[in-house]
Amino acid sequence: MALIASLPAFGVRAEELLSPSGNMKLDFRLVEGGTPVYSLSYKGEPVIAESRLGFRLDNSGLFDWFEIADVERSEYDGTWSPVWGEEAEIRDCHNEMAVTLRQTSSDRRMIVRFRLFDDGLGFRYEFPAQDNLVYFLITEELTEFAMTGDHIAWWIPGDYDTQEYDYTESRLSEIRGLLKGAVSNNLSQSIFSETGVQTALQMKTDSGLYINLHEAALVNFPAMHLELDDSTLTFKAHLTPDPNGDCAYMQTECVTPWRTVIVSDDARDILASRITLNLNEPCKIDDTSWIHPCKYVGVWWEMITGKSAWSYTDDLKSVHIDTDDLSEAKPHGRHGATTENVKKYIDFAAEHGFDAVLVEGWNIGWEDWFGNMKERVFDFVTPYPDFDLEGIMDYASSKGVKLIMHHETSSSPRNYERQLDTAYKFMKEHGYDAVKSGYVGNIIPKGNNHYNQWMVNHYQYALEKAADYRIMVNAHEAVRPTGLCRTWPNLIGNESARGTEYQGTNGSKPFHVTVLPFTRLIGGPMDYTPGIFEMDISKINPGNSTHANFTIANQLGVYVVMSSPLQMAADIPENYERFMDAFQFIKDVALDWEESRYIEAEPGRYVTVARKAKGTGQWFVGNVTGSEEHVSEIKFDFLDPDKTYVATVYADAPDADYLTNPQAYTISEYRCTSKSSFRQKAVAAGGYAISFREAEPGDRKLKMLK
Ligand code: NOJ
Ligand code: CA
Repeated sequence: MALIASLPAFGVRAEELLSPSGNMKLDFRLVEGGTPVYSLSYKGEPVIAESRLGFRLDNSGLFDWFEIADVERSEYDGTWSPVWGEEAEIRDCHNEMAVTLRQTSSDRRMIVRFRLFDDGLGFRYEFPAQDNLVYFLITEELTEFAMTGDHIAWWIPGDYDTQEYDYTESRLSEIRGLLKGAVSNNLSQSIFSETGVQTALQMKTDSGLYINLHEAALVNFPAMHLELDDSTLTFKAHLTPDPNGDCAYMQTECVTPWRTVIVSDDARDILASRITLNLNEPCKIDDTSWIHPCKYVGVWWEMITGKSAWSYTDDLKSVHIDTDDLSEAKPHGRHGATTENVKKYIDFAAEHGFDAVLVEGWNIGWEDWFGNMKERVFDFVTPYPDFDLEGIMDYASSKGVKLIMHHETSSSPRNYERQLDTAYKFMKEHGYDAVKSGYVGNIIPKGNNHYNQWMVNHYQYALEKAADYRIMVNAHEAVRPTGLCRTWPNLIGNESARGTEYQGTNGSKPFHVTVLPFTRLIGGPMDYTPGIFEMDISKINPGNSTHANFTIANQLGVYVVMSSPLQMAADIPENYERFMDAFQFIKDVALDWEESRYIEAEPGRYVTVARKAKGTGQWFVGNVTGSEEHVSEIKFDFLDPDKTYVATVYADAPDADYLTNPQAYTISEYRCTSKSSFRQKAVAAGGYAISFREAEPGDRKLKMLK
């Protein structure tokens, strides 16, 4: 009683913040004991019920005994231009409230900064420089997101080491029962609880609200997972720990990443939201002229499917990186990155107008890499004996094609950091301007994991150093993106989700690409590596019976739906040569956009997007469909009103079926204007893609869409 009586009476002061249009409302107050809480509503409907804020530190806490010392409010409405992306200009319009809290028991200060947009909320914690808080260790983040009902969610298990799961669609209350069964890949897994999920988490309420939880600007902090208390349907932040179980080492003055809640009653607004980018810092690279979109093919799918190998030999005794000596090694004959094979891809790229060729398995170390706990596996400058690096570079440059470097780090960041300058210098000397890096396997030193603060800092270090060398980065298995590509636009891609590689090894759920735009892509573009035209993988490698779960038309739709400045045509050239008319769309489609229109969207069901290419002004439309067929009835009202166009429509044939007849497509041409309506069926795991061009007199014979 005495303690309670001595607690300050904080409950009285409440602060409210409205978004610019007034449709979002944030409430903040201190409850009994001086604990900060917030709640959020959209058009009068509760989105986040009263939820706690704060941290536990190793020796104290920053969650109670607070008083409000100051409240600062401001408004912002401005635009900025990304170096590449889904539109040429992005509006950032928000109202801000920064609440300075003073912990009376310790005289420490913490600011909670809220930015309220018309499509959601971002908030972060800030720790100003102060005498009583200099170095501190966060052991737990207490931030809650209290849901108001048993929503439907599209989720993957919380895991410190991989994001490469199939999504599960279920009620929140079903997560506990389903989570174990959702483990469907064979990479290392560090699932931390029975109700933990990853962000970006997409949900839908029974009243039709779409709610997305994620984070923005993840810098010098561990990635946030969400842990559900299913008795109260409240998520709590769960920070990825280090080997000691600690989470974040902080030194004032410092800030956390933003916690984001994107909300709308229209699913398309979730895809159109730019909250994540807007909460990141402006570009820190002064001259960005060297950063460019890139369409590429690669010596890759043949390794994923097992037709060829990254390694040069099976003769393990004779290859050891410490000696760099392969002279005694007997090649196994399945090496993919041979000079001859790479030249074949360069020829294909040159013939079809691709910018670049990715070559994996070119450098020594692959014999030794996976599941290995040695710290030094790869070096990044020594080619295999059958890969004539100089000759290949000359050949590629004579054909106007770039090569994309590959650095598989084997999750040994210290080995990589030690070699980074050498590796990047080597790239520049040989004309490479982009690297695909990878982090397969358990992080070495052991006990670390892919998403803890130390690894988040490693990815950032590799990215910023790459910018110094004018190198573009596409990191696989790295932490999920949080909009950092605004600040560092040389981050042209990340994997950080289940990519097409699984369609060559295990298969993925048919609805996968209708979920990714609502989850993984909220943080930035994905190197999804689409464009697989042969779904029966045994046709590439008779020993591999995997079936890829989509149609050819779906694969074409992905290029528009899942926008990225880096797009691969992932299949082997032989498979494209069989379907050159469909391949034309991949050749034509743009990678960087003036404008994007989200025409139809429902997570797990369908997504249809129209985009206008930067520079050329050419329009493209893409659709992908989930586990059931979808009929689009859309308008072409995005087209310029004064023009007549020809739409080339690549669609599932009426008898297409992703399991039994995935290669059945039709290609049709129509005349159309901005007044035209368009109806198109896409089968399950199907889709369609449209490219538009201005009509010419000879096109009069084509049917006009009314
Ligand atoms: C996993 C990556 O996702 C894949 O693209 C790459 O080929 C392998 N690691 C080898 O580095
Ligand atoms: Ca991967």
